[in-house]
Amino acid sequence: LKNVGILAMEIYFPPTCIQQEILEAHDGASKGKYTIGLGQDCMGFCTEVEDVISMSLTVVTSLLEKYKIDPTQIGRLEVGSETVIDKSKSIKTFVMQAFEECGNTDIEGVDSTNACYGGTAALFNCVNWIESSSWDGRYGLVVCTDSAVYAEGPARPTGGAAAIAMLIGPDAPIAFESKFRGSHMSHAYDFYKPNLASEYPVVDGKLSQTCYLMALDSCYRRYCHKYEKLEGKQFSMDDADSFVFHSPYNKLVQKSFARLMFNDFLRNASSVDESTKEKLAPFATLIGDESYASRDLEKATQQVAKSQYDVKVQPSTLVPKQVGNMYTASLYAALASLIHNKHSTLDGKRVVMFSYGSGLSATMFSFHLSDGQHPFSLSNIAKVMNIGEKLKSRSELSPEKFVDIMKLMEHRYGGKDFVTSKDCSLLSPGTYYLTEVDSMYRRFYSKK
Ligand code: ACO
Repeated sequence: LKNVGILAMEIYFPPTCIQQEILEAHDGASKGKYTIGLGQDCMGFCTEVEDVISMSLTVVTSLLEKYKIDPTQIGRLEVGSETVIDKSKSIKTFVMQAFEECGNTDIEGVDSTNACYGGTAALFNCVNWIESSSWDGRYGLVVCTDSAVYAEGPARPTGGAAAIAMLIGPDAPIAFESKFRGSHMSHAYDFYKPNLASEYPVVDGKLSQTCYLMALDSCYRRYCHKYEKLEGKQFSMDDADSFVFHSPYNKLVQKSFARLMFNDFLRNASSVDESTKEKLAPFATLIGDESYASRDLEKATQQVAKSQYDVKVQPSTLVPKQVGNMYTASLYAALASLIHNKHSTLDGKRVVMFSYGSGLSATMFSFHLSDGQHPFSLSNIAKVMNIGEKLKSRSELSPEKFVDIMKLMEHRYGGKDFVTSKDCSLLSPGTYYLTEVDSMYRRFYSKK
């Protein structure tokens, strides 16, 4: 089998959002903190009629329809999510509603969970299945779905919500370079959800930033090592055309790319020119924790990385900046943004991906892109996703309305015996929405 990877993609995010500039003023944060400080433009969120299950149903049915995939052709369905609606019943089983109608119940796979990493775990499971002797020749389907909500406070503007569906199979335009992979997994309490009565995480913001960057360093070193062992030459940032990061908020992505440049500098890689060497020389002796704490290093690396950032990172930042952290979907929404912005110029390019989930698990891996053939071509993927239109047609809600919705959702979380407003006026046709949770906690959905 050749070029196993992503054949097709679809993205869904709620039509309801709030401008970060407005939220910032409402929260009494200093002007520019959310927009420049965090680098975010807008934040999407679910209202009481949407959740991770409705978004999954919407994105899966849309993918099957728009690429004309017969539902009986799906042999594996994997869901990545960290949004807990049920401690036993997987989100995957809810999504089975879309397949049972067509008589297909022969579909392997359940949910994968570890913070924002679950989507990557689900994706690897699908790819591994197709490359294994138990593959039955059908497609794999991966769904990443999350609603990221935080308690009032500094983390709240880093929320977001979305679902992504990816069709997996051989001869893909977004093909895995399976041999090049570096992981870093360890035990940390940077962000976790120990309170099962609340949808909100417990988060140590500063620790989560350091954990993310440490995991990035470690994954990059391992990725480079594997590349060098197999290719017999050094890897440098010049060997990749794009870098796509898990994006809790854009500032961390800027810092991450700059951090890779610092790694290349320390490794004496060919990508680092004389002027960069000069500018980073004062930091050459910073080791370990010191280097994560140094503001001067952060500034110096971001400055030398700026022009490369604009070329190799910026095109992937659109949806994460506009919708916010989508947890498991965040990395793949960034990939979707790259395809949206650059689909006609990606043939033959290498894209390096960095997946991070608190707690923590992280992997760096890469794709080799090619134009592909209709319907599985990069240009058709961009057309189907229709990101520009989806972003444009959203409704901006006021901060007061947003806070009210958060309160209502807090109250409803884990609850039973209620009907929703069933107000789907803002949803586009084909969108699933929650209508009722009955006295047995059973959830009911309708399609607009
Ligand atoms: N104008 C411009 N920039 C500003 C302004 C202003 N008026 N005010 C603050 N800033 C800058 C700060 O300097 C800082 O930037 P820097 O890091 O480059 O210095 C940035 O805005 C954020 O300000 P902080 O004071 O550091 O923000 P705070 O600590 O209040 O919250 C945090 C930020 C920790 C990211 C919080 O939003 C959070 O906890 N989020 C959730 C955790 C998270 O997303 N972690 C990332 C990895 S784990 C995961 O994916 C969930």
